[in-house]
Formats: sequence, C-alpha cells, structure tokens
Amino acid sequence: MQNDDGYFDERVAARYDESEEISEMFDPAVVDPVVDFLVELAGSGSALELGIGTGRIALPLSKRGVPVHGIEMSKAMAARLRAKPGGEDIGVTIGDFATTTVDGTFSVAYLVFNTISNLTTQAAQVACFRNVATHLEPGGCFVIEVGVPGLQRLPPGETFQAFDVSQTHWGIDEYDVATQGLISHHLEIVDGKAELNSVPFRYTWPSELDLMAELAGMRLRERWSDWKRAPFTSDSRKHVSVWEKPAA
Ligand SMILES: C[S@@+](CC[C@H](N)C(=O)[O-])C[C@H]1O[C@@H](n2cnc3c(N)ncnc32)[C@H](O)[C@@H]1O
Repeated sequence: MQNDDGYFDERVAARYDESEEISEMFDPAVVDPVVDFLVELAGSGSALELGIGTGRIALPLSKRGVPVHGIEMSKAMAARLRAKPGGEDIGVTIGDFATTTVDGTFSVAYLVFNTISNLTTQAAQVACFRNVATHLEPGGCFVIEVGVPGLQRLPPGETFQAFDVSQTHWGIDEYDVATQGLISHHLEIVDGKAELNSVPFRYTWPSELDLMAELAGMRLRERWSDWKRAPFTSDSRKHVSVWEKPAA
C-alpha cells in the first residue's frame, strides 16, 4: 500500500537490509566496487545520492572521505540510515528526487540499484536528469546502475518473468510493453506467512537514458556492464552509465 513514504514505507524499511532479495546487496563484494568507482569520480568534491535509502552505498562512501548528501522520499528508510554509525555525517533531504533541490553542487550524483525505474513516467525520468544537471559542477558526472529490460528472454505473448525463485522468496516481473511498465511482484514467507509486495517501475533502454541526458545538457562518458568496468555488450543484463556535464 502506498503512502507518503512511497513503496518503501515502515513495513518495508524495517526489513530492507535483512530481506532475502536485498541482503546480498550489502555484501562487501557487491558494495566495494561501487564505492571504488564513485570515490574515483568524486575526486575532491561531494556526492549526491538520489534514493539514498538506508545508506547501503552512502555510508561506506562517506567513510572513504567523500562528503555525501541524499534525497529520499521515505522517512522510514532515512530514519534507518540516521540510526546507523556514521549516519549523522550524511545529510538527507526528504522529497522526490525528480524535483527536490538541495544546497550546493556536487562532482558526482548517482542513482543505483534500478532506482531510476521507480519513476514511472518518462516525464519524471527526464525531470530527474534535469534536476541532477542543475546540481552538478561543470565536469561533474551522473551515474546510473539499472537493468537492461529483459524482453529478449520473454517468450512471444508472455508478460510474466520469474527473476528469483527460492524456498522463501518468489520474484516475478510483469511487463507491459505498451507503456514500458514493469511491476515487480515479491512474494516472501515472513514468520510463516506469505507477504506480497508489488512495486511499479518504468523500464528504459540505455539509448533512451542517453537522450534524457542530452535533454539535460549532459553527454555519455562511459558505459559498462558492471562496476568493475566489464564491457557492455548485447548480452549484458544491466549497465552502469556515466554522463558528464560539460566543463564550463
Ligand atoms: C531500491 S531502494 C535503493 C536504496 C539505496 N540506494 C540502495 O542502493 O540500497 C530505492 C530507494 O529510492 C527511494 N525512492 C524511490 N523513488 C523515489 C523518488 N521518486 N524520490 C525519492 N526517493 C525515492 C525509495 O524510498 C528507496 O529508499
């Protein structure tokens, strides 16, 4: 059920770090390459995380000496971040990252873990790129990590695709190609009871994101299939893309 906190309300926030589909994303083997990548781009400047959540990336980035500020819709998620060691060093502005502005400029802004797709209209995604561009220093970078739409693996006429199947969690994506809509259904057994959480997304091809960047006055600088800079190919399941605001 959606409220002011969006789809990451108190119920989700309370279990976010430990939940089966998320907990492995906190593994240092996953987090460290992201942080290494962002430290390099941040240089001596500051970082802005859109959808900062419970600080999975922001906290280790801040510990590496990069000042980090976050924009986050969910007060429940932001409260979890603030309660963690080092959370007091990270400012969080509550609001929609497509439109919310914060003080200062940043050498890097980043939006990881498919979170650009939480904006469910093209207009909101374009607004997000424009919002980021106004927060970047000249020469600053915007980084997005997001999945490539799985349509190549969807049989003709089918709309459902399982992305995780275990004893306690079933993840099923439901595609609507007419609207580039994608609903991720998570059915999880919690304390012996089945809980359903269905979250709507808007999927995009990399080329559409490049156009959004161009509309916002930025240009593609790098595109990889992971944070260790593996080449992006037609088989890649996700991409890590970096757009640059031209130096003045
Ligand atoms: C999948 S979580 C990722 C959190 C964190 N970045 C991470 O990597 O663990 C997505 C986060 O983005 C937030 N979010 C989604 N849409 C948002 C929006 N339009 N404005 C601000 N925050 C948003 C959610 O509340 C949630 O905390």
